[in-house]
Amino acid sequence: MPRKKIALIGGGQIGGVLAQLAASRQLGDVVMFDIVEDLPQGKTLDVAEAARVDGFDANVTGTNDYKDINGADLVIITAGLPRKPGMSRDDLLTTNAKIMKSVAENVKQYAPNSIVIIISNPLDAMVTLFKKITGFPANRVLGQAGVLDSSRFSTFIAWELGVSVKDINAMVLGGHGDTMVPIVRYANINGIPVMEQLERKYNDKAKAKEVMKNLVERTKMAGGEVVKLLKTGSAFYSPASSAIAMAESILFDEKRVLPVCAYLNGEFGINGYYVGVPAVLGSNGVEKVIEFELDSEERTLLDNSVSAVKTLVADMERLGF
Ligand code: APR
Repeated sequence: MPRKKIALIGGGQIGGVLAQLAASRQLGDVVMFDIVEDLPQGKTLDVAEAARVDGFDANVTGTNDYKDINGADLVIITAGLPRKPGMSRDDLLTTNAKIMKSVAENVKQYAPNSIVIIISNPLDAMVTLFKKITGFPANRVLGQAGVLDSSRFSTFIAWELGVSVKDINAMVLGGHGDTMVPIVRYANINGIPVMEQLERKYNDKAKAKEVMKNLVERTKMAGGEVVKLLKTGSAFYSPASSAIAMAESILFDEKRVLPVCAYLNGEFGINGYYVGVPAVLGSNGVEKVIEFELDSEERTLLDNSVSAVKTLVADMERLGF
């Protein structure tokens, strides 16, 4: 049986980590495309030369020619500019929409049956545009945001409570912007409610609420916190790891339930928009959106986040995309 073919569109910071993770975990043969001459060739040569040490057989190659992604099973897109300090994800809209248009046309031509994970920002708009241009079915086009936002939320909870992050389950829904919705009510340590543990730690309900509010705020601003420190780019290790978790669930038909940016057809009362929700990821891509009851506060926050996504998509359409 031939190995799966994974095309990485964009060979920048995230693309490089994606190539290394995909190869070392033997997810399939990797081909990295970038418009910058020699960049994808150089990065993939570097990754490939670690094959002996890391013990993988997959081919890892770079190209400036879209023909080389021909027949890819899985495509992960990071093409586009990252944020600079002080920029919001939305500031990237015009530049990255132009880039996404050309990427979508080429993926449609050369990898028409692929499942596509998009990381480029502003995420919700980029996924919407990609789907519009390719006409790919909704189950084959999804965005990475929730896995990372949830991992950040889990990390901050683990640090606060002094427990292993491996035992934290916490989910972030909604758009991938400042309006994202960390679901506090269900955050748990192997089933034990996080809020209860915070109340025990501080022996004070009000203080526990305040601590959680800070964890939520830090989660929402976590991308910006990294941008501010790096000064010349945005987060790249954690977005790459998050997309690889999604890729593994799809390639190995794991049916993991992960928060992803998925096209909604009435789920959660949302119709015709890409929003971060929990979904089953398997060999058919987004196989099912998992709905659950939201309380009134969560509903309000999600509605607010969906409004932000709608505004972003409307702005993009007004710009002619
Ligand atoms: N086609 C393919 N690649 C392109 C194109 C294009 N039309 N235009 C730009 N690129 C490439 C750049 O040459 C660069 O190598 O996309 C790559 C982006 O890499 P970085 O600038 O290092 O950005 P990165 O940190 O990888 O983030 C990529 O993901 O999280 C988001 O906000 C982030 O939108 C950004 C994207």
